[in-house]
Amino acid sequence: SIPPDIRCAQDYEALAPRHLAAPTFAYVAGGSGHDLTVAANRAAFGQWHIVPRLLRDVGTGNTRITLAGEDYAHPLFLAPVAFHKLVHGAGEIDTARAAHAVDACMITSTLASCTLEDVARAGGPQRWFQLYFQPQREATLDLLRRAEAAGYGAIVVTLDAPIQVASRGALALDFRLPPECVAASLAPYPAAAPAQLADGESRIFQGVMRSAPTWDDLAWLLAQARVPVWVKGVLHPDDATALRSAGVAGIVVSNHGGRSLDGAPASLDALPAIRAALGPDFPLLFDGGIRSGADIFKALALGASAAAVGRLQLYALSVAGALGVAHMMKLLLEELEVCMALAGCATVDQITASALQAKRTPC
Ligand code: FNR
Repeated sequence: SIPPDIRCAQDYEALAPRHLAAPTFAYVAGGSGHDLTVAANRAAFGQWHIVPRLLRDVGTGNTRITLAGEDYAHPLFLAPVAFHKLVHGAGEIDTARAAHAVDACMITSTLASCTLEDVARAGGPQRWFQLYFQPQREATLDLLRRAEAAGYGAIVVTLDAPIQVASRGALALDFRLPPECVAASLAPYPAAAPAQLADGESRIFQGVMRSAPTWDDLAWLLAQARVPVWVKGVLHPDDATALRSAGVAGIVVSNHGGRSLDGAPASLDALPAIRAALGPDFPLLFDGGIRSGADIFKALALGASAAAVGRLQLYALSVAGALGVAHMMKLLLEELEVCMALAGCATVDQITASALQAKRTPC
C-alpha cells in the first residue's frame, strides 16, 4: 500500500532508504566520479522560474502529444533502468503493469532483470526497447529481432556509456549485484571474452573501447531495424545533427543520470542548444534529474518533446511496488497539469520558453 506520508513524487526518494539496503540505495542514487553531473542535473532546474499567466481558457486542456507520428496520452516516459529486481521481487513486470495503468510508454533496458518478452506481456501497448550493442553483432541483431517480435515500437540505442564507471559511494559500501539480478534477456548469448592487452596497451583504449560501437555500427543498425531507432545520450548539438543526418527517428538528450562522464553538463543545460540545432520539429526525448511536474514543464519549455524519469521508478517500486510506480507517475502528471493550467498552457505545444524566466543570480 502507499504510505500516507507520500504527497509528491520526490517523497518516494526520501522514503526509499527505509526500503533498501544502504549499498543498494547508494548504487541507485549515485553517479560516476564525484557526482558532479548528478548535482548539476538537479541544480539546473533551480535556475528557472515558471511565469504564471492570467485569464486564459484552459477548459479544453490536455497533455496529449504526437511523437514521431505516434499518439501518447502524456509526455512522461519511463527511462530505461537496469535490474528492477534489485529493489522489488517482481522487478520490471510490476513497472510494466504500472506503466500500462497510467498510459505511459516504458523503455525496457537491455539489462532488465526480466526478459524483454516477459516485460512486453505484462505491460501496455506502448513500449520501446533500449538496446546496448553486444560484443558480437549476431547477439545485437538477435536482440533487435526479439524486441521487434515482442512488439516494441521503437529501439533506443544508448551510446553514452561504453565504459561502466562505478559509483564511489556504492563501491565504498561494497555494493554487489545479488544473484537474482542478471540481465535476463542476455542469457542466450556468450559473455564477452576479456581483451588481451599487449605490453604498453591501455586498459581503456585498446581494452574496453576496442569493442565499443562507432558510426559504422550505428549505420549497420539503422539498416537492419524494422522499427524507428532513437539514440540516447546526446549532449552535443553536432552529434544531434549528425544523428539526424544518419537517419535516426529521434534523440534522447541525457547524461545517463550522471552515471557516465562525470563533469558532463546538466541535461537541461544542454537542451536549448540541441533544440536550436535540430529545429522545432525533430523528436527529442529528455531525461536527467526530473523529480516534479514543474521539472517536466521546464524541460518541455526548453525544447523537449517528452521527458522520462529514471531513479524515481526504482524509488517508487521499492516503497510500494506497481502501485507505487503508478502513483508516482500520477503525482508527476497532476503536477504537470497544475503548472500548465497556472502558466496558461492548454496543450503541451503551448509550453514554450516564453513560459520561463531565468532566475537572477545575485551580483
Ligand atoms: C540507469 N540508466 C540507464 N540507461 C540506459 O540507457 N540503460 C540502462 O540500463 C540504464 N540503467 C540505469 C540504472 C540505474 C540504477 C540508473 C539510476 C540509471 C540511465 C537512465 O535511463 C536515465 O538516463 C537516468 O536515470 C535519468 O536521470 P534520473 O531521472 O535518474 O535523474
